[in-house]
Formats: sequence, C-alpha cells, structure tokens
Amino acid sequence: MNVENKILKAEKLLEENKQDSVLRILRKLDSEKKEKLAEQILQLDFEQLRKLYKETQETPEILEKKLEHINYVDKYKISDEKRNTYLNLGEEIIKNGKYAVVTMAGGQGTRLGHKGPKGTFKIDVEPEPKYLFQILAENLEKANKKYGITIPWYIMTSTENDKETEEFYKAHNYFGYPQEAVKFFTQGNLPLLFTNGSLVIDKDYSIKIAADGNGCIYKSMKKAGILDDMKQKGVQWIFIGAVDNVLLNMVDPMLIGLAIDEKHEIAAKSVPKNYPKERVGVFCKANGVPSVIEYSELPEDMAEQTDEDGELLYGEAHIMCNLYTLDALEKIAKIDLPYHVANKKTDYMNEDGEFIEVKEPNAYKFEAFIFDAFNYFDDMSILRGRREEDFAPVKNAEGNDSPETAKKLYNDFHAKNN
Ligand code: UD1
Repeated sequence: MNVENKILKAEKLLEENKQDSVLRILRKLDSEKKEKLAEQILQLDFEQLRKLYKETQETPEILEKKLEHINYVDKYKISDEKRNTYLNLGEEIIKNGKYAVVTMAGGQGTRLGHKGPKGTFKIDVEPEPKYLFQILAENLEKANKKYGITIPWYIMTSTENDKETEEFYKAHNYFGYPQEAVKFFTQGNLPLLFTNGSLVIDKDYSIKIAADGNGCIYKSMKKAGILDDMKQKGVQWIFIGAVDNVLLNMVDPMLIGLAIDEKHEIAAKSVPKNYPKERVGVFCKANGVPSVIEYSELPEDMAEQTDEDGELLYGEAHIMCNLYTLDALEKIAKIDLPYHVANKKTDYMNEDGEFIEVKEPNAYKFEAFIFDAFNYFDDMSILRGRREEDFAPVKNAEGNDSPETAKKLYNDFHAKNN
C-alpha cells in the first residue's frame, strides 16, 4: 500500500470508529509523523477496542458468582509420610530436567517509584545490596547446585523494558547464571482509552499503549515459541512467578509433588492474608471452579468476613507462585482471558499540540490477570506456606510491602537458613 492509501485507510477507520479527535490530530501532522501514526492505526483491532470500552461501562461480574472457600494443604500440618511422598514426586521431576521457571518482569515499578525495569531495583540486604534479578538468579543457582542440573529460565519483558532488561543481564554477566539457559520473551500491549472512549495520543504522536497485563503471558509464551522450546527440552512442569518477591521459592518439590499426588494440572502456593485490606488477590471457588479475586475487586465486607475459627474467609493470599503442566499452558494459551479495567492518570497530546499533564485518572487501562486461567480447570492444588519463608514483596516505596519490610524478611530468612 502506498503512503497516500495508508493515510486514507487510517482516516476512514478513525471516522468509522468515531475517533474524531485522533482524526483531527492526524490531519494536522507533517508527512513523516502522519505516516507513522497511520501505520499504527492500521494495526489496531477496533472491534476489540469497542468491546473493551463497552465493558468499562458494566459492573464487575464477581458479585454475581457463587463464591466459596477453597481447600488447601498446609505445608506444616501434614504427616511425615505425605511430606515424603510429595518431596519424592517433586524431586524426581526436578532432577530429571522436567522443570522450568518463568519470571514475569513486564511490569514497571511505578508504585515503588523506581525508574526502569523492576528487577533492576537494588535492595539493601545483608551481606551486600542486591538487585531483584540477582536475588532470583541466586535462588535458582542454589537449586541447580542442590539437584545437579541447570533449570531453564524464561523471562517475560514488555516493549517498554525489553532492551533495558536484556542489557542489564548482559552487563551483569547474567548474575552468574548459565547464559544459554536464559531466554527472554516480550509480552503484548493494548492502547489506553480516555474515559470517553477516545484513543490517547502520546508526546511523540503515537497512539499511547501499555502492557496488557500478566494474564497475557500464556499467549505470549506460545507466540514466542517458549512452549515449543520447553517441549523440546522435555519440560513437563513450569513455575511462573513474579519479579518482586525476594523470598520467592521457585523450586519447591513439595508444590510439584502435591499437584502430582492430587492429579491436578495446576497448583499454587499461598500464605494466610495478614489483614483484610492487604493488597493481595485471594483464592476461592467461584461457581465451583478455582479462582482468585483481586484485591481491587474484593468488596470490603467480603474482605472482612471470617469463618467459625475466626480465620478470614477469603484469606488465602495469591502470592504469584504458580505451577502448571506444559499441557495446561498449551490449553490456556488458546483461551481469550477477560480484561480487567483500571483507571489511570495519563498525560497526552491535545488537538492544539499541547502536552497535557494530568493529576487525576482520565483513562482506562486494560489488563488480563494471570490467575483468570485457573477458572478453566475443575480444581487445583494449593499449598499453604509461610510468609517468613515465601512472601516478601517489594511493592511500595515506604510502609507495607516496601524495601524496608522485604529486607527484614530476607535477612531473617537467610540468617536462619544459610
Ligand atoms: C499481583 C497479583 C495479586 C497478588 C500480588 C502478590 C495480578 C493481577 N495480581 O498484584 O493477585 O496477590 O501480585 O504480590 O497478578 N507483570 C507483567 N506484566 C504486566 C503486569 C504485571 O509482567 O503487564 C508482572 C510484574 O512484573 C510482577 C507481577 O506481574 O512480576 C505482578 O504485577 P504487579 O502489577 O506488581 O501486581 P500486584 O498489583 O502487586
């Protein structure tokens, strides 16, 4: 298609989809910028955007679902016999090279106030400060030594941070991890929409996009050939975890063994929620299938509800410590997970060529959530661990879940276990 046709086609699309403001901006641009923006417009899936916008006007459906408590196995309240069964089953998988680990590092550390990929944040732990990526590498390296193997390590980045992340790894010599065992892949994006449904134009006159949420990991892995790579390596069980938990136990044979013993294709580690408003998702059964309700969507009265033992009814925290068979990942990669809507502040270029900086949320961001995939399975295994061993997230600059709280948990754990 020649340039003129491209621009005409983009204009037509904008007209048909009532993107009048963007159309007016496009018409004012010089030829180079106009061509670039037109090309981006031709790539957009307007039908999907229409659907997403429509959903912003609807109430979240969780209130309509039948919610129940979910069963879990407490790692420290099982018989020695069960413990050994789980350990043996899990270690068999790990030792035989049937295990791989995926780290989700597509998010930006906005809440933390860190510029750059979150894994490049340095935390002041003992005996010396370490980057989050370094802590993960060291934990995996420890498991490699213990089992005499090299666990394949896949890292998901986003278009915002992929170059910087890979360069960071190179500059730090992969933190000693065997380079050939590390593979990066990039997640997808979706445009932001103003609350009136209009696309947002960025400073450089491109359509403003953002990472499409960690639930897109499944399709991204498929698209990037990661699932094929795993298959070819003989991997059967895959761990997917976050970048920002300095106590994340990525290689726990108990979790694998429990899933195998219970004949489930998916499993997750949990810890009891600290207090009702803690910003964690909670496991439950929704309409009979395993689910997580995100903290942003759990109504306050439900967050406070307790059972007959006084424990929070929705108190089994999702700590982003999840496990799948390769077949389960193949299955999920074919499913279109729903998108959740977040209200975001987004700066933008207006029709008069002024860049407007905003203080209040003015746009919608769409994100798929990793745990929505759990709904597509009849059941899953949940292993309840302990906060002081499993969960020390670095989320906020200060207060709860900050470098200060994570550092303490990390130092205490390593003082006991090294
Ligand atoms: C997340 C979980 C929440 C859980 C909590 C535990 C989701 C939707 N929510 O919340 O249930 O209790 O962690 O700490 O998962 N990421 C990407 N791409 C994206 C967005 C996020 O790779 O587009 C990655 C981040 O880099 C991070 C992880 O996903 O590793 C969690 O993302 P974050 O936005 O920090 O989630 P929380 O809101 O803390």
